[in-house]
Amino acid sequence: SSTFLLGALTVLLLIYLISSASFSTQDPPGPRPIPLFGNLLQMNLKRPYKTLLELSKKYGSVFTVYFGPQKVVVLAGYRTVKEALVDYDEVFGDRDPFLIVHEMNHGNGVVWSNGDSWKEMRRFALTNLRDFGMGKRACEDKIIEECQRLLEVFKKFKGKISFDTNQRLSYAVSNIICSMVYGSRFEYNDPEFTSLVDRMSRGAKLLGSPSVQMYNMCPALFKWSGARKELLELSATSTKQNRAFFRRLQETLNPQMCRGFVDAFLVRKQTLEESGITNSHFHDDNLLMTVMNLFAAGTETTSTTLRWALLLMAKYPKIQDEVQEELSRVIGDRQVQVADRKNLPFTDAVIHETQRLSSIIPTALPHKTTRDITFQGHFIKKGTTVFPLLTSVLHDPNKWERPHSFYPAHFLDKEKKFVKRDAFIPFSAGRRVCLGESLARMELFLFFTTLLQHFRFTPAPGVSEDELDLTSAVGFTLSPLPHKLRAISRM
Ligand code: HEM
Repeated sequence: SSTFLLGALTVLLLIYLISSASFSTQDPPGPRPIPLFGNLLQMNLKRPYKTLLELSKKYGSVFTVYFGPQKVVVLAGYRTVKEALVDYDEVFGDRDPFLIVHEMNHGNGVVWSNGDSWKEMRRFALTNLRDFGMGKRACEDKIIEECQRLLEVFKKFKGKISFDTNQRLSYAVSNIICSMVYGSRFEYNDPEFTSLVDRMSRGAKLLGSPSVQMYNMCPALFKWSGARKELLELSATSTKQNRAFFRRLQETLNPQMCRGFVDAFLVRKQTLEESGITNSHFHDDNLLMTVMNLFAAGTETTSTTLRWALLLMAKYPKIQDEVQEELSRVIGDRQVQVADRKNLPFTDAVIHETQRLSSIIPTALPHKTTRDITFQGHFIKKGTTVFPLLTSVLHDPNKWERPHSFYPAHFLDKEKKFVKRDAFIPFSAGRRVCLGESLARMELFLFFTTLLQHFRFTPAPGVSEDELDLTSAVGFTLSPLPHKLRAISRM
């Protein structure tokens, strides 16, 4: 009987080992890949996030897809994305740079880097942007000054000519980063400035283009793509221009009076060098990439969101009425301040709802796991690329009453007071959460309220509200298709 018992125990142990092994090594489910192509043939290459949303309905909230030979684990829905990014932020907190980006950045800067260099650059950028304004009165003043300049630009059209808001908003928003980084703003007709901003917008478009995405997956086949070549050229030109800016700043550097982020970086670099530290992360390439990152991450995103906001106002005039009624009642003619936000619940809800519905960075930026993990019963290996599908959270039917409509009441309670919503994560969450969130929120609030206070936005003559298209263009951030609006003065 003891032999029987031993045999039974062995069998049980084996069953346990096999079942736990197969459980813990189970890859997240997903569509069957074919060699080399992976799941590309079933992918909407212009809007891959749409395919990922479809797949999540079939395979659940943690699933695997193959972009060509590259395996990606996708996380979908509020509960899963939050659990990964917040509860397991150490595990899901590395970045997996696109190949093309890696060729331009070489692991420098903040957005696409990892390890100690990332940590130092992120910390330095955060404290310095704070010192040069982010979250502070000084920053508010800079934004307000820029709002006034933007009003002048919009006024030139005298409410008669319809125009595309795109470039004008990009210039205004870029100037905020210029003030914080270089220590001064530019005039809107300064060719040095306009070329810098225009290149950035073009770069964002190219980064999201199907041919560059294909290059990231199959470099050998798409090495000669025109878009990749153009992107590398743009990056080289921006590099040259920035190095020239840095030289000018270095020549007039006064360590007692830093004008902006670049000055602070140069001073830190000098201090470290003087104390004999030669292997610090404060080197020229990290300065260059961090500055280019702040521009790339901080201008298209905010100006695109503002464009959506104005387009939505023109499309939904009743909602625009309500915003303007609130602004007239609470603010009147004076300049809006950040402190007014709490007294403008409807306007605040409209801004949040714009960010939620437009969901401009649908798959966040690619993350990478820092170690093996069994997550929600699925085994994910160290170094796996992970896409947190932010758009699935911002449109999660379990969290939003009308996920696909423009419905500011998502952020209002019964008494019409503003309410925060935990599934509102356009800036992502956890260790890699957007570094510019507080700056972006301040910019969105001040630009939007100032513009709405001064202008009524309508479609171009002959275009009905229904005809305004909310489909998004293809690019790295989801932006509205080209369109024109009229800005009719209210004051
Ligand atoms: C990263 C959204 C404005 C700087 C990100 C990420 C998102 C995001 C989704 C990726 C997070 C992740 O990987 O999980 C937005 C939106 C903005 C905005 C929606 C405006 C409406 C800004 C501004 C700045 C900025 C104004 C600059 C001051 C950055 C940086 C990162 C980042 C440096 C990389 C953080 C890291 O990898 O550690 N942002 N952002 N963003 N954002 Fe923003």
